[in-house]
Amino acid sequence: MPNDFFQPLSDTQTPPGYNYFNGSSWVVGSSGKTNAITSPVDNSVVGSVPVVSTAEIDSILKKLKAAQPAWEATPLNQRVKLMHLVADWVKHHEEYLTALMVREIGKSVGEAKSEIIRTAELTDYFADEVQSIHGETVDSDNFPGYDKGRIAIIDRAAHGVVLCIAPFNYPVNLAASKIVPALLMGNTVLFKPPTQGALCGLHLARIFEKAGLPPDVFACVTGGGSQVGDYLVSHPLVDSVAFTGSSDTGVAIAGRAPMKPLLFECGGNNAAIVFPDADMALTAKEIVKGGFSYAGQRCTAIKYVLATQNIIDTLLPVVLEQMKTLVKVGDPRSPETKLVGPVISTEVAKTYQGWIDESVSRGAKVVCGGTHENAYMQPTILSGVAPDMPVVARELFGPVISFITITGMGEASAIINATRFGLQACVFTRDEGTGLQFAKSLNVGSVQVNGSPQRGPDHFPFLGVKQSGIGVQGVHYSLEAMSRLKSVVLNKPQ
Ligand code: G3H
Repeated sequence: MPNDFFQPLSDTQTPPGYNYFNGSSWVVGSSGKTNAITSPVDNSVVGSVPVVSTAEIDSILKKLKAAQPAWEATPLNQRVKLMHLVADWVKHHEEYLTALMVREIGKSVGEAKSEIIRTAELTDYFADEVQSIHGETVDSDNFPGYDKGRIAIIDRAAHGVVLCIAPFNYPVNLAASKIVPALLMGNTVLFKPPTQGALCGLHLARIFEKAGLPPDVFACVTGGGSQVGDYLVSHPLVDSVAFTGSSDTGVAIAGRAPMKPLLFECGGNNAAIVFPDADMALTAKEIVKGGFSYAGQRCTAIKYVLATQNIIDTLLPVVLEQMKTLVKVGDPRSPETKLVGPVISTEVAKTYQGWIDESVSRGAKVVCGGTHENAYMQPTILSGVAPDMPVVARELFGPVISFITITGMGEASAIINATRFGLQACVFTRDEGTGLQFAKSLNVGSVQVNGSPQRGPDHFPFLGVKQSGIGVQGVHYSLEAMSRLKSVVLNKPQ
């Protein structure tokens, strides 16, 4: 079944050459250029994807633009039905998509499977929630000097064409979390998957097509950031950009897309703050899961722990003990591997190794790990780290947790607030009042009390401040972000 379903995506060669979806059919790129995708699991080539040319992009965007008004005018109940079908197809292909994702990006079987199921559930939830998005009316006589002579009828309108750019770490879920609300709110969508993760993205695109979207409502183009990404974000026919990726890339895109509505989820570098009264077993478990799941390649991963030296002395042995049962580095296809498979490439592992080595040369101590083989990094804990060392100051998207010694809790908020990141932080204390109070001092999007940072449940607001994001996601919030207010004022002379 999956072979027939996904047959138009690629040729029959090994490794396969993939096509892209131009809005109505699957085609080989006209540029003749391709990007090979190498599995971080074993360095084998999984396939190659076209680098779509600028002429092809122009033609697709013109069609998406032309098709948008009719799509927005399509009754909502029909758009809802299509998205429920997307959810059904995602569920139907769970096993196939899971295996593909494990091979393409090195996510463990359990984590990949959970991403697929979460995507189906999220899509269904979006399709239900959109039905609670209503317009409103506002009377004029509330404002001083006005009588009842005007009424504003406020509705929600689509942006137009939304460019959705997904990251490699959630190539299906963080694609659907943009595409689905954009389509439901009446936008047409151009989807650009990450290069590593493009195969997952193309398979997801096939599911949108098969669910029955009309031609030129949705298209999916492949190519690297510098090859097609820069051209796409600055294209005059793109009305809005939804992006998840690093803060450096987010800043660059924002610079190229002036005056466009942006919805960005960027780097996190999230801290855990441990109060003296914290439950050390719970804290250690959350730090291990929060820092090492999917090899630390989550924007919500814990990157550093802030505590006084006596707390660190108590906590670190508990963390190391928990690691024995919770973490096992290895091949993500093996059921024995726990939390830590490979990072996305050997090159990336080498870069992070350099940051670890530089931090150690400046005084950090390796408590465990600190080495890598190919793309497999040993789960690493460093102590005696300073906030300006590269392992903390840069976006280290790998299994590394740094312990920073502080003299008091005021210093913890000062360190967090001084960084360029502001996604989440977590506070561990048995006193919830202390947690709530301390949360107020942190300039981040969300603070977790007694739990590690995370996006879900997916209907909670999810946002970053500073260079960690723009706008708010989360089911209802994403639907709002994928649309704008449109006001019509009726003047009724009294
Ligand atoms: O990597 C960014 C994701 O939004 C993180 O999601 O907290 O569910 O792993 P997660």
